[in-house]
Amino acid sequence: MQTVHDIATLRDALSPHRRAGARIALVPTMGNLHEGHLRLVDEARAQADVVVATLFVNPLQFAPGEDLDSYPRTLKDDQGALSARHCDLLFVPSVETLYPGGLENLSQVHVPIVSEGLCGGARRGHFDGVATVVSLLFHLVQPDIACFGEKDYQQLAVIRKLVADLHFPIQIVGVPTVRATDGLALSSRNGYLTPAERARAVAFPRALARAATAITAGQPTRDALDAARADLVQAGLTLDYLELRAPDLSALEPATSSHARLLAAVYLGATRLIDNVDVALPGADHG
Ligand code: PAF
Repeated sequence: MQTVHDIATLRDALSPHRRAGARIALVPTMGNLHEGHLRLVDEARAQADVVVATLFVNPLQFAPGEDLDSYPRTLKDDQGALSARHCDLLFVPSVETLYPGGLENLSQVHVPIVSEGLCGGARRGHFDGVATVVSLLFHLVQPDIACFGEKDYQQLAVIRKLVADLHFPIQIVGVPTVRATDGLALSSRNGYLTPAERARAVAFPRALARAATAITAGQPTRDALDAARADLVQAGLTLDYLELRAPDLSALEPATSSHARLLAAVYLGATRLIDNVDVALPGADHG
């Protein structure tokens, strides 16, 4: 696997593949890779001839006071893991390379509506930062497909709308969440948890799974969500949001939908975790 740091070398590395008509897949990451990221690489590998990963801790998507400075940077380990999963090319730009004019007056991409609420409520400007850097990476790599994890479900929805609205000729592939054996969704931020917090964190996926099962079995949504909130409080987790939405994150209309998405964010101490699950809805005529 070749690692490149500047835009000219990235373009040089990609141009023979492009000339040969190869199908190029992009896997954007912020590094500190775990199995969830590596499944994105596996999916990219399965669907394309050339796999390009990017590793960039994007300052634009961190609000003041968030964990930009402490975000784990593990380049050597990440290179080893990507290489073992047969990634072809890794692009690791500096902040100056991607944003040479600085952040202050940078042109930014805003994806309305779907960026608001849920994580966009607590993390103001976060999805503008994501949409801007992803647009830049799409522009630089010009992939045929790009893979993103369903764990960041709102991010995936933002990127799908971005690609549709701006006519990027890129197929967006959502890859299912990878979970630890106790059900906790893998996340770089799980590493911030103390052993005691990690033990309590299991209540999070359990509360979501229990609510999803109850709704599918016909329990009124409000009761199922109240029970999930009670489970989380009982486990000492602080809830940011818990919402049942349509799969595209618009308001849910149960009479016309067969599935919904249950999404939540919680705090354990200073660590913020997110998760979401599919919910099969009962009783509607979906024919
Ligand atoms: O999901 C992430 O790791 C980041 O938000 C992304 C998509 C790489 C953009 O910085």
